Amino acid sequence: MSPRKRHVLLLWMLVCSCATEAIEPISTSIAVGMAAALTGFLASYQNIFYYFHECCRPEWIAFNRTGLQLDLQTKLFGQHIASRIILKAVTGFMSNDNPKKPLVLSLHGWTGTGKNFVSQLIADNIYKEGMDSSFVHVFTSELHFPHSSHLNTYKSQLQQWIKGNVTNCGRSMFIFDEMDKMQPGLIDSIKPYLDYYEKLDGVSYRKAIFIFLSNAGGEGIIQAALDFWTAGRDREELELKDLETVLSVSVFNNKKSGLWHTSLIDKNLVDFFVPFLPLEYRHVVECAMAEMKARGVPPNHNVADQVAKDVVYFPKTERVFSVKGCKTISSKLDYYT
Ligand SMILES: *[C@@H]1O[C@H](CO)[C@@H](O)[C@H](O)[C@H]1NC(C)=O
Ligand SMILES: *[C@@H]1O[C@H](CO)[C@@H](O)[C@H](O)[C@H]1NC(C)=O
Repeated sequence: MSPRKRHVLLLWMLVCSCATEAIEPISTSIAVGMAAALTGFLASYQNIFYYFHECCRPEWIAFNRTGLQLDLQTKLFGQHIASRIILKAVTGFMSNDNPKKPLVLSLHGWTGTGKNFVSQLIADNIYKEGMDSSFVHVFTSELHFPHSSHLNTYKSQLQQWIKGNVTNCGRSMFIFDEMDKMQPGLIDSIKPYLDYYEKLDGVSYRKAIFIFLSNAGGEGIIQAALDFWTAGRDREELELKDLETVLSVSVFNNKKSGLWHTSLIDKNLVDFFVPFLPLEYRHVVECAMAEMKARGVPPNHNVADQVAKDVVYFPKTERVFSVKGCKTISSKLDYYT
């Protein structure tokens, strides 16, 4: 075999070992055939290869707790409850080498409050490639499951995707956006993967993370936050228990929640329901400041104020909460800078 061919062969072995997560044990005869020098060569080659190509390995997938904590503190605004739950849930799950089930989070709240953003922060602090990682998968009803008549096709497709991706990498993350728009029944089809099974058809789903995003419960959360505001109480005093009833009523009894009537809830497969509060003027200012910083321009408080003043607030009389949260800040900033 020419050195060049050997080269290619080695590279192929590495591609394969990367795809199957662990390095396959090389059979003894081949191992003997390969001289010690070659082994050394292989080792260094391997490192170079892993360095350049995303693999399902600790070089590319490692949880950074400090990073997540810092991101939640400095980049997410007005969400003291969600922040706390997310940090605890993800840290607990990622530091357990042998979880009994995958982590299942259900994030609830009005548009623009940071549900997508938090999913991104989680991905950023687990995968070196963040949301661009080939192990992070986002599903939206409009993009992936648009036609209600194809429900059965979608169900089997979704099952195959999840199975295929988890087979490739146990540490996969699946984000389901706009759960309110998903047909009831679609999510039911992946229920077994969220459960306490050691293995299904030889595949273990226990190290995967599933995140469901929805507006369901948003109105109830707003009402609770508004009641607090009206009573003159500090928003930071709001606790999960103040919102739990609101959340469960809207999630469990709302036909549009997408989780409706699913056995996800019956079987307690969702580990955490996470409420996102509506954002106030000061949070919109913070978002604008952070956005300027992220763009590499010096944060300017006057500009941030201008942007925040330009945002629409509700209820009509009190004007407490931003209608679109921090969603339109980026484009407004383009206008003012
Ligand atoms: C974890 O995150 C912190 C804060 O962003 C960063 O300083 C640190 O380098 C990260 N650690 C690793 C191992 O990436
Ligand atoms: C992984 O999921 C994506 C959708 O995000 C899908 O297109 C792809 O076919 C899946 N991979 C496997 C191996 O099933």
